[in-house]
Amino acid sequence: MSSARATSPSIRQRLVLQLVVVAALLSGLLYLSVRTVADAAVETTQDSILGAATTTIADELRGGEDGIEVDIPYTAFSMLGAIGQDRVFYRIMVGNQTVTGYDDLPAPDGTASGLEPRYYSRPFRDVDLRIAAVSRTVLVQGRAVEAVIIVGQTRQGQAAIVANMANRAAALGLGFFVVATLLSILTAGTVLRPINRLAEAVGRRGPQDLRPIHRDAPRELAPFVTALNGFITRLGGALSRTETFIAEAAHHIRTPLATVRAQAEIALRQTNDDATRTALRSVVRAVDASARSAGQLLDHATVVYRTDQRTDERLDLGALTRDIARAFEPTADLREIVIALDVPVDPVQVTGDRLLLESALRNLVDNAIKYADPETQVDIALKLGDGRAEILVCDRGRGLSGVQAQALTKRFQRGENVGDVVGSGLGLTIVNEVAQAAGGSFDIVNRKGGGACATLQLPLS
Ligand SMILES: Nc1ncnc2c1ncn2[C@@H]1O[C@H](COP(=O)(O)OP(=O)(O)OP(=O)(O)O)[C@@H](O)[C@H]1O
Ligand SMILES: [Mg+2]
Repeated sequence: MSSARATSPSIRQRLVLQLVVVAALLSGLLYLSVRTVADAAVETTQDSILGAATTTIADELRGGEDGIEVDIPYTAFSMLGAIGQDRVFYRIMVGNQTVTGYDDLPAPDGTASGLEPRYYSRPFRDVDLRIAAVSRTVLVQGRAVEAVIIVGQTRQGQAAIVANMANRAAALGLGFFVVATLLSILTAGTVLRPINRLAEAVGRRGPQDLRPIHRDAPRELAPFVTALNGFITRLGGALSRTETFIAEAAHHIRTPLATVRAQAEIALRQTNDDATRTALRSVVRAVDASARSAGQLLDHATVVYRTDQRTDERLDLGALTRDIARAFEPTADLREIVIALDVPVDPVQVTGDRLLLESALRNLVDNAIKYADPETQVDIALKLGDGRAEILVCDRGRGLSGVQAQALTKRFQRGENVGDVVGSGLGLTIVNEVAQAAGGSFDIVNRKGGGACATLQLPLS
């Protein structure tokens, strides 16, 4: 039985790969969202503190007859100093004039509002600043003037917090990815379990188990199981028809041929006319050849059928060899050939199909007797070697000629020196197929001193 090609990647691999890719995308997305939210949250918090400090300064702004008076509160800067080692700059403007502070600290575009501070980011000297600006209207010498309070701060503290958050987000994303990958592997296993179980159940069956599959398969596999069961049913039907055909064909071909042969023999005995006798002899020969061919063809068909539908059992190869040798004794006697048996007394256990092994042995012994010279000896030996049993059938006869030993196992292949002997060229095909099916091997060689030696090796059980 040939095994299925497994070149395409497994469903499991594909499933795990796809789930891992999805997990990686989601982890990346998670990382980005956490970072974005954290950045926004930190910035909003920092802005509120900066805004609160700016508003605190603005609230200390007083107008009066002498001009604007501001008493910059310590709390405003201690609030900002709470976060890291950031530098703080301020500027208070009335109109375009700087009243106090850094006069190059960037003013807001447009007007600052009196209620909520305006926030903006600008480069200032060699640093980047986050700036809040609020405006206040104060009375100076009875006139309402607009003062703008600007406070800027470097954002090193915020950058540190954001970097810390980013690390955490990365760790979170990585953790999520690892968990998702493990879950993917688990999920792939769970999803594929029913398929694996079904494959196992089908794989465990012996070759002759043609019962339909009754397994709870997932709905998606139901069409497959139905198709497989349909196939099994049809195969079973075809096989039983083949079996019937082989048995019936054997009967219907052999019986009339035997009748024709018997009639030809009788006619041969009753006639004295030489021409008729020659004709009748060739009829008998042709009938023999046909009967042999039909018999061997049917045997071969049976062997092919049985190799698929084997009923393996433990057999004593010694007893089997002895039985076959005994069965051939009458045939050997006709040519005054002696069969010499060398078989161990103890049982030689092999596992195989009795019918197949008998068929192979019968063909080997048949060849040996058929192609041996009359009044010679056919040696049949059974030997044991490392885990193997070896049956040797050797004769003293014409030996192999013209065709390579390996080629003789092809269908209908006969040697060049056997034209005078009836045969179909299927015997060694049968032997070789039986050897292959049993996990053994077959070989035939010329024997020293004339004749041929056939070897059938079988694994011991
Ligand atoms: N013992 C042997 N001595 C000499 N030649 C042999 C021997 N066994 C096999 N051969 C050669 O191998 C060929 C194939 O053998 P195989 O048994 O397949 O066919 P066959 O004997 O010719 O016909 P059949 O199918 O009727 O047995 C034979 O025709 C013969 O040439
Ligand atoms: Mg033969």
